[in-house]
Amino acid sequence: MNSARMIFTSDCSTVSYSSSGTHLLSSGFVLPRRYYSTGFNPLPLPSLRTQSLPLRCSGSSFVSSVSVNPEACAKVIDGKATAKQIREEIAIEVSRMMDAIGVVPGLAVILVGDRKDSATYVRNKKKACESVGIKSFEVNLPENTQEEEVLKFIEGFNEDPAVHGILVQLPLPSHMNEQSVLNAVSIEKDVDGFHPLNIGRLAMRGREPSFVPCTPKGCIELLHRYNIDIKGKRAVVIGRSNIVGMPAALLLQREDATITIVHSRTPNAEEITRQADIIIAAVGRANMVRGSWVKPGAVIIDVGINPVEDAKNSKGYKLVGDVCYDEACKVASAITPVPGGVGPMTIAMLLSNTLTSARRAHDFR
Ligand SMILES: NC(=O)c1ccc[n+]([C@@H]2O[C@H](COP(=O)([O-])OP(=O)(O)OC[C@H]3O[C@@H](n4cnc5c(N)ncnc54)[C@H](OP(=O)(O)O)[C@@H]3O)[C@@H](O)[C@H]2O)c1
Repeated sequence: MNSARMIFTSDCSTVSYSSSGTHLLSSGFVLPRRYYSTGFNPLPLPSLRTQSLPLRCSGSSFVSSVSVNPEACAKVIDGKATAKQIREEIAIEVSRMMDAIGVVPGLAVILVGDRKDSATYVRNKKKACESVGIKSFEVNLPENTQEEEVLKFIEGFNEDPAVHGILVQLPLPSHMNEQSVLNAVSIEKDVDGFHPLNIGRLAMRGREPSFVPCTPKGCIELLHRYNIDIKGKRAVVIGRSNIVGMPAALLLQREDATITIVHSRTPNAEEITRQADIIIAAVGRANMVRGSWVKPGAVIIDVGINPVEDAKNSKGYKLVGDVCYDEACKVASAITPVPGGVGPMTIAMLLSNTLTSARRAHDFR
């Protein structure tokens, strides 16, 4: 019966397939196919033909010997292409708005300090704004700027009718109170969606936040655009940060999924994750989610962006996700790559929130 199989060794537990349309867990428990269908073009179970491949998860010292069907490969959820399509849709709307009422959406970005990664993010946001016709306003302040000065800029942008969205690039220098700075952004212009009122509304039934945080919104948008059913599915979100994990879980709940949040104190993270039809991983640990954590046919959204050493790369490193892609793509039905998955969607959602804000301010439909 068990003639086709997939085995993860090393620290992974064993996952085996039978050829009879069932999934044999390491416990010996057999799951019929209907229990792991995700509604998203579930892959046929691996056929009898298998091949042993050594898989290396970059970023971990581990090498696993895996018997896999070389043809089994999850559909790639292409965030880069989806984000491009969304940017094109936004550009059309921006130009329609300009033609109809002469208004151009505006996004203000405040950067404090000289962190290179933050400067790169701000530069990319500015470029993305330009590419769709959104006007960007940039403020660059030195590391030793006083909090009052940042608050003054925020007040100015709150009052400025040409600005429809305000974004304070995080992290702020340690002498600033991030909470009071973020709270100062007018809720009508909180395109990052981090204002406690917006998060509170996101958590409440029957309330609508003005804006939803961009990265989790991008995750859900990918699921929608790839016609992946969420309603009634079991979803596991790994990570509970204010900016990704927690709002991602709230969003999935609003879509009628049944949610479990896994965090650093969760025992049995692997076992819990293996029950999920949908996994959103937002941890910040390279390749933490192994193939054995994934239920066959599950859909994986990998938010993690982790640099790992790579001598072959001219930069000396490459970026990988929180999910061991090489293993997981042999088990999942669909998966986002890193890079090229959630990352580009985050910026697309920021542009989308800015357009929404401008439309709302001018009652433009
Ligand atoms: N693609 C994008 O646009 C985008 C945007 C934002 C972030 N990211 C990436 O997403 C990742 C997460 O970002 P973040 O800001 O949410 O990170 P964060 O604030 O550091 O939160 C990480 C979360 O992971 C949990 N965690 C840590 N170790 C764990 C473990 N061993 N098992 C289970 N949970 C564990 C933490 O649990 P505790 O709460 O218990 O500490 C925490 O909730 C990072 O790689 C980041 O670079 C990507």
